Parts: sequence; structure tokens; C-alpha cells
Amino acid sequence: MDNSHSDVLVFFGATGDLAYKKIFPALQAMIKRGHLDKPVIGVAKAGWNLEQLRNRAKDSIEKHGGIDPAAFDKLSGLLRYVDGDYKDPATFHAVYKELKEAQRPAHYLAIPPVLFGSVVQELVKSGCAKGARVIVEKPFGSDLDSARNLNQILLGAFDESQIFRIDHYLGKRPVHNMLVFRFANAFMESFWNRNFIESVQITMAEDFGVQGRGAFYDETGTIRDVIQNHLFQVLCNLAMEPPGRADSESIRDEKVKVLKSIPPLDEKNLVRGQFRDYRNEKGVAPNSQVETFAALRLEVNTWRWKGVPFYIRAGKCLPVTCTEVVGRFRLPPTLIRDSALTKNYLRFRISPEVSIALGMTVMAPGENMVGQATEMLASRHPQADEMDAYERVLADAMAGDATLFARQDYVDEAWRIVDPILKKTISVYEYEPNTWGPAEVQQTVEPEGGWLNPTLATQAAAAEAVRAA
Ligand code: BG6
Repeated sequence: MDNSHSDVLVFFGATGDLAYKKIFPALQAMIKRGHLDKPVIGVAKAGWNLEQLRNRAKDSIEKHGGIDPAAFDKLSGLLRYVDGDYKDPATFHAVYKELKEAQRPAHYLAIPPVLFGSVVQELVKSGCAKGARVIVEKPFGSDLDSARNLNQILLGAFDESQIFRIDHYLGKRPVHNMLVFRFANAFMESFWNRNFIESVQITMAEDFGVQGRGAFYDETGTIRDVIQNHLFQVLCNLAMEPPGRADSESIRDEKVKVLKSIPPLDEKNLVRGQFRDYRNEKGVAPNSQVETFAALRLEVNTWRWKGVPFYIRAGKCLPVTCTEVVGRFRLPPTLIRDSALTKNYLRFRISPEVSIALGMTVMAPGENMVGQATEMLASRHPQADEMDAYERVLADAMAGDATLFARQDYVDEAWRIVDPILKKTISVYEYEPNTWGPAEVQQTVEPEGGWLNPTLATQAAAAEAVRAA
């Protein structure tokens, strides 16, 4: 690993949505923590000047976390701006001029994937790629072929160690914590396998729609947007074997082994949904067949997991915003009537708060031998000063640490699993916003015992208040 620090950050897509929501707030946070004191060159084709970019940064940070006057002043001073078309060599000459003496630029491509190829080529031609790192936003390609092409383009210009493929889910502490929880607690190993676990379900629910990103979303859909990348990372953390060493390559090796053991997704194990009125969103085709919801079942054919189905579902306009995992245990032989038993489960919530819960059966009040479901819960809300995922991945990429980034073989394997169904025309079913997706899910990809729908603490408290009244 080359751990010399990048001496300038160039980010393409400076006037875009990602920059507005995530990158400017992350840059201010990096400055506050003393992790950034290098020039930051924004690049976009918006006809803007530097002052407009600074105003945009201010507005972005005000709306996403708030301004820290000292850090923001510093960020304003570090900002530069280059306006121009990504296909025009003149844009890259202007970037090159702004790099000045920089030896180790980091080029961050926060732009639609279709533009990656031409931007990389222009970076090379203009000399901007010399000594540089490249940070690439997801989705990395749009299928197996395009991802391979992209890798070829990137690897033609950069060494694998200089390429940082972002999956911001890897930058989330709770996602990383899954590994710590699994491998730092001896009791986990005894049951976290096919002998005790009957099924695993992963839910990523969002209670909002496409939030003005209709054009992007309509080229992407849920499988490409969050399943092939974020939720496969979560799956790997759940299913992988303990790495022999804690370094980034050993961890990434184990993840790739998990993906290699998963056969391609079969269309009979997939339900795609689209929320009512999605087609009226700006940028969405009036007859769009793109999914805003997907539920699927995968096999993980490793020694540990063979025969245990892994279910994944994700969607927009669902009842809550929450990401969590549930591993359901097989039923024990018992003195209590089976009908009174709920299966034990381990629930691991990644957001909005981190919780680890054990679902269990205890004896209900009264004299009869009747079971009652309860949960033993440990829960922690994120600290106000906790690093955001984008702050963490950007700081790591600039420092040259690849642990939180997807390796080429991982990306390849992840696309291999979903590639066949991306090439097929598969029905998309309408669902009502604020529901758990189309009814077809229950017939096709329903875990034994059903999906466990996440409820938020506020909802649980409201339900409790109603019960108590
Ligand atoms: C992004 C997707 O990668 O992840 C979005 O493009 C999604 O559609 C987002 O909303 C979720 O990430 P987070 O960090 O907000 O949970």
C-alpha cells in the first residue's frame, strides 16, 4: 500500500446531487477533524464560477448538518472550480493547470457511470493521471460487461492499488461492527451456521421516493442502486469466514469467497416492484419498467451456509427508513406447544440506530405453560460527532487505505450474480407507497415464518401507548 497522502482532491460532479447531499458536508467534517488541508477542485458543466460553487457548498452544508464557521471558511479558501464538458480536452487542461505542483492528486468521479470511461481517458491524455489515485462512485458499471470494460479502462491508466471503488456502506461503522460482533464474541460461532440458523433476511427500507433523482434512478433501479453493492457487502459480512489476518486484502479475500459460492440469481427467486406514481416523477419514462423495490432469495453454498436461504429486500416508499438483518433460528424440540412458539432470531440493525436483539420465547404470565415472544435488546444511537460514511471513505482514499473499497474481483463476482436477471424482461408489480412492496412477494420470496418488518422506536412507543390506554 502506498500511504503517501493525496495533495489535492479533484471532484467531478461538483454541482450534482451527491456533492450537495454528501460531499460538501464530508469535506467540512474532514477539515474540522484536521483530515483535510489540501486544495479541493470542483469540476462540473454548469456554466458556474467559483463564487457560485462556494454558495452551493454553503447551502449544502447548512441543510446537511450545519455550518461550522471556522471550518467552512477554510473550505471556501481551499475550493477551486473548473467549468467544462467532460468530453472536452480543454476541461482537463484547465484541471491540469489547477493541479499546479501536486504529486499525488485524488480524482473523485462523483458522476454518472456512463461518463467514467471518457473522463479517465481524458485524465490520462491531459497528464492529470500522473501519480494520481482515482476514486470511483457506485454503481460501478451497470452489468458484468460494463463493469469489466470499466475495470479495463481504469487498469489501463491506474494500478489496482490506486483505484478506490466507493461503496459508502463500507464506510458505515455499524456495517464494520458486524464483523467485530461476529468475530469478537465467542458465543456467535456456536450458532451462526446452517446447524442452527434457518434463514437470514436483510431489509433496506426507505420511506421516501427518488427525491428528484428520477433520471438517474430510471437508468439504475433498486438492484443496481443498492442490492448489488451495499446489501451484498452486508451479506458478505454476515456470511464470510474469519479472515486469517485483519489486513484489508485478507478481509477482501474472504468476501470474494462468499460471492463465489452464490449461484446466479434465478428469476423465480425475484420479485420486482414499482411504487404507484413513480412514472410521474421528473426524469422517469412514462412507461418505465424499472424497479423501485426488489425482494430476492439467494443460496450461499459454503460449508457454513449450504441450505440456508438468504433473503434480501430493498425499496423506496416503504413504511420506514431502516436497514436491518434477521437471522432466524430453527425451532427447538420443546414442551410448549409449537403454535405458542415464535422462532428465536438474532436481529442486527444498521440504521437509523445500531441495535442487536435476541428474539426469544419466555413463559407468559399466568399458570399455564404458554410461551410469549420477547426481545433482549441492546441499542445505541449514533453520536453527534461520529464520522459520516462519506467522510470516512474520502479520508481513507486520500490516505491511500483501501480497506473500505471494493476490489476488482469482488465487483466482478457481485455483477455475475445479478447479471442474468438484468438481461431479462421480468415483470414489475405496482405497490402502494407506505406498504412493504407488492403482494407477489408473499407468494414468491417469503422466508419461513414471514418477513420481520422493522419498526422504529417511535412506532413501538406509539403502539405501547395505545395498548396502555
Ligand atoms: C445510495 C443510493 O447509494 O444509498 C440511494 O443511491 C440510497 O438510493 C442511499 O438512498 C442509502 O444510503 P444511506 O447512507 O442514506 O443509507
